[in-house]
Amino acid sequence: MLPTMLRMDWSVGDGWSRPALIPYGNIEVSPAAQVFHYGQAVFEGVRAYRQDDGRYAVFRPDENAKRFQRSCARMAIPELPTMSFIDAVTSVVAANLDALDDPARPESIYLRPFIVATEPSLGFYGRSSDFAFMVLALPMQQYFGDRTRMLRVLVQDEFSRAFPRGVGFAKCAGNYAGTILAQENAAGADCDQVLWLDGPTQQWIEEFSTSNVFFVLGDELLTPSLNDAFLPGITRASVLDLARELGVPTVERKIAIQELLSAIESGQQVECFSCGTTASVTPVGTLVFKGREYRIGTKPGSVTEKIREELLAVQAGRSVRMPTWRHGV
Ligand SMILES: Cc1ncc(COP(=O)(O)O)c(C=O)c1O
Repeated sequence: MLPTMLRMDWSVGDGWSRPALIPYGNIEVSPAAQVFHYGQAVFEGVRAYRQDDGRYAVFRPDENAKRFQRSCARMAIPELPTMSFIDAVTSVVAANLDALDDPARPESIYLRPFIVATEPSLGFYGRSSDFAFMVLALPMQQYFGDRTRMLRVLVQDEFSRAFPRGVGFAKCAGNYAGTILAQENAAGADCDQVLWLDGPTQQWIEEFSTSNVFFVLGDELLTPSLNDAFLPGITRASVLDLARELGVPTVERKIAIQELLSAIESGQQVECFSCGTTASVTPVGTLVFKGREYRIGTKPGSVTEKIREELLAVQAGRSVRMPTWRHGV
């Protein structure tokens, strides 16, 4: 973890306190705090990339701010204004960079803004009267170690992650706790990731545990259309926009797992990749479903490569495209 974090508190009487940059370290919270018992907690994942000129730019923090607000609204947590969110993440990057000499500065910095309910209360009376908002910073390499590594993915047929009209679209802590066991089972089957299907019918593809999913079928780039049961990824939206810029036809629609498996089995050309703030664009080589293996490929497909390269170039400021996606520090 980098040495400086940020903290702001919210209380019913006073609203938001002023942000404070403080040394990263343990915090004191009552063991009766609502977050520990009822899981009232929301977080975000934001990344700042080192540019060629040595400065840093945060990737689309306004989008994270808006998603944070939507998640907070659903979890009965006070909303942080967009500018306060952007200032918070930017000031944490700046403060940590000030403490590092140029050669020690990482390729990117992952920021973790989060908010938790701190009112001590064992009675479940509803909304907490106190919250703590914090931002942590972690140095991160831009690429996964081996850039051509293909993921092996277990398509989940035992558990469900979310249901319609629930909280699947929100980035709330409980959505992740529920996926740990499935992720462990996937590791037991020698898989890197879990692909989740819709809760009610287990027919429709939704997302991975911490990223969104894309396929290339024919000459189309396909991704499941958004609904209220999975996370609207900012990388997902960015990939769709960049694909259109690159002349790749995009389609957002319901995708049945059976359609995909049949396409792979019949020998059609298929590409699949995972995308997210930490995953960037990571190709998938194999799907495992109900004990059977469906091999997509051993090398990243050409559309996957093209989109990955362009996304990384935009994030690092090496592309002239989408200049408004970079928020300078
Ligand atoms: C469940 C889930 N889906 C999708 C994503 C991808 O979202 P983003 O591209 O905004 O990082 C994430 C990562 O934050 C996630 O946790």
